[in-house]
Amino acid sequence: MSNRTPLIAGNWKLNAGAQDGLVLASAIAEVAKTASNVDVVVSPPATALAAVASTLEEAGSKVEVSAQNLYPKDSGAFTGEISAPMIKAAGAKWVIVGHSERRAIFGESDAFIREKIEAAVAGGLRPIACIGETLEEREAGKTLEVVFAQVDAFADLLRKQIGNIVIAYEPVWAIGTGKVATPEQAQEVHAAIRGRLAEKVSADVAEGTRILYGGSVKGSNAVDLLGCPDIDGALVGGASLQPDDFGAIIAAAQNL
Ligand code: PGA
Repeated sequence: MSNRTPLIAGNWKLNAGAQDGLVLASAIAEVAKTASNVDVVVSPPATALAAVASTLEEAGSKVEVSAQNLYPKDSGAFTGEISAPMIKAAGAKWVIVGHSERRAIFGESDAFIREKIEAAVAGGLRPIACIGETLEEREAGKTLEVVFAQVDAFADLLRKQIGNIVIAYEPVWAIGTGKVATPEQAQEVHAAIRGRLAEKVSADVAEGTRILYGGSVKGSNAVDLLGCPDIDGALVGGASLQPDDFGAIIAAAQNL
């Protein structure tokens, strides 16, 4: 057992950005009400950040809010973007950075993702930095090579931010596909990432950094995944839109 508090984060993606997001947030506040010893975060679309944060606060909930992305400048001529200070002002404390959909669809590079993590930390947000290999890369035996390169791009930033920067290992082939990594496959990569942090940064950073698993996590597979020694929580897409299923994942994290 590590002393890392498990973190369950729901990534709503391009869903639940209006009144439906407030209904979902209230339902999640309810299922998370009795959770202790587990941190719970929800990540609505940007348009709903402030309203979801208020809804949770009014419900007296400990569930915290995350943005799904940020731009690494505080303000300026960057049409369509939002910055760390804006996210913070909306009542969010977290931000997802470098999700595989951002990398694949919007062409975000490791260097750009590093800038975003730096901007998030400078703005007082806690980044959830996503990494993960594609199916092609896994089949070519390149999983560790790929995730190590992604981690190396920002690993030094963890030195002064133990506990504040969270890593999410999300094999791209498992995201939204229903093909969850086996606990053995996930644990192997999580342990390797932790080893990489020990080697590249320090043993303290490796020990203190939460590494979440993401990719088709559901109530039905959460117990086995979260039971692995190097899996410190989950980044959940589809199932985070279903309060009962998300609640089952929170319960699994609580009973470790
Ligand atoms: P999924 O998404 O749980 O729907 O596979 C995970 C993610 O993209 O963070």
